[in-house]
Amino acid sequence: MTPFDQRRHLIPFRSQLLPHIFTDMLVVGSGVAGLRAALEAAQHGDVVVLAKESLDLSNSNWAQGGIAAAIHHDDSPESHFKDTMTAGAGLCEESAARTLVEEGPAQIEQLLSWGMRVDRDSKGSPSLGLEGGHGHARILHSDGDATGRELMRTLISSARERPGIRLFDRCFAVDLLTSSQGRVAGAITWSPRYGLQIIWARATILASGGAGQVYRETSNPRVATGDAIAMAWRAGAWVRDLEFMQFHPTSLYVAGAPRHLVSEAVRGEGAVLVDRHGARIMEGFHPQEDLAPRDIVTRGIVEHLARSGEPCAYLDARKIGSTDFARRFPSLERMLAGYGIDAGRDLIPIHPAAHYTIGGVRTDLDGRTSLQGLYACGEVASNGVHGANRLASNSLLEGLVFGRRCVVAALRDTLPDPVPMQLESRAQTVVAGELDLGDVRQSLRSAMWRNVGIVRHGAKLADCLDMFAFWGRYALGSVFETPEGWEAQNLLTVGHLMTRAALERRESRGAHQRADAPREDAPPAQHLDWQIGHDTVQRTAIATESATR
Ligand code: SIN
Repeated sequence: MTPFDQRRHLIPFRSQLLPHIFTDMLVVGSGVAGLRAALEAAQHGDVVVLAKESLDLSNSNWAQGGIAAAIHHDDSPESHFKDTMTAGAGLCEESAARTLVEEGPAQIEQLLSWGMRVDRDSKGSPSLGLEGGHGHARILHSDGDATGRELMRTLISSARERPGIRLFDRCFAVDLLTSSQGRVAGAITWSPRYGLQIIWARATILASGGAGQVYRETSNPRVATGDAIAMAWRAGAWVRDLEFMQFHPTSLYVAGAPRHLVSEAVRGEGAVLVDRHGARIMEGFHPQEDLAPRDIVTRGIVEHLARSGEPCAYLDARKIGSTDFARRFPSLERMLAGYGIDAGRDLIPIHPAAHYTIGGVRTDLDGRTSLQGLYACGEVASNGVHGANRLASNSLLEGLVFGRRCVVAALRDTLPDPVPMQLESRAQTVVAGELDLGDVRQSLRSAMWRNVGIVRHGAKLADCLDMFAFWGRYALGSVFETPEGWEAQNLLTVGHLMTRAALERRESRGAHQRADAPREDAPPAQHLDWQIGHDTVQRTAIATESATR
């Protein structure tokens, strides 16, 4: 049994000795899914929302492209559904994809009624962008390429106005609290101001985003360390399809610069991928060329780099022109200018980077996990919407639709009142020795990028798994007192789970590419589910497999 399969809390505590807070709903995470859930929950009771750092530091806030929704009269949820299923490469749950596209437009109406500003055309209608895998222009955007910022401004200010919502920033959820029957009753948290606290909750909703930081090259903010996936795993929840990490084809490739995303919407406006001589990369690779689903474009770039030996590819946005580029993508234009790049004149150096955690905590269509009292939505959840490859700009919509659904389900589930239980954790350091946490983190991120990256191979995955099991013995066998240590433990846990799942899935499908298991040999689509303490994976057939590529 690996150290990742031993059920233990990260820290020692006795619940009766710690300060207590009671709430109807505890929401872990303050991105789009968490705040949408909180706004729904506040109509029925009181809510506590936890943000690990500041409220507005999240993947949601960084989203450039926008929110996909079939709101144009020429478009339809059916068409959005088909595109979602096609992008998902056979692994989407049909009911989840249908729910997303059918409930999506009402969520957009709701956002507009809360005061969200979207870019509009000269007639005052929302101007809709095009992105990879979409058969229609259906991406709503704000301030050109700052959709996430405007969305989060709207949600944060709406949440601040609701008296029932308490927003706790700089508050780290260390572990879930579970009764002896396995019911989740809240979480143990830590903040620099109050130290350890217990938050008892009737329902706990995980909405703290993904785990892009497990990779050396990522477009994600530093907070995306997969904490809730690791925490749910330790509590005994089933996780699903963790081998699927989506790599965004175009993150900026400039030595020393963060891997800024260069939005897919730039290709939607006509930019194309080229080599350093200006020759097209996606021509002839797929009928949709530069606007093919994201996994295909990423593969096109990776195969080109392997053939050419070049370190990066380029985005040629010159035909958009400097003026139009600055008007449509003002934040990108400023960011590129910071590196001396003028998109109207220069090629933009790019490389794929880890972007979106597709797998996660397994849920049903209403966000219920396998543990009573625990729900999950947004990037942390695996509800079947995204299949093996998420369609561009579907994630903000997913946070809105499923954030709301979690709360509706929790209200229906007649959960008992939160009552304080006497819980005790005896976690102790079992392996002594100095640990440089920064080094653990960097080593993990490099190993993941090299061995569990865009193209994987069984032998390397197996080696990596052994290495993580070794690292896990001392890193998980230590007790830390601050988030730096807990994050490293969570990253290692999620890295291990992703690697284990990637080794087990002996096929190439969507975002999971195995050099030793070509696409042509792919067996029928199945989910891979895992639970702590069980060595073997559970394989579940998807409900239907229509409209797939
Ligand atoms: C982008 O703007 O390319 C990112 C949007 C997304 O990840 O859906």
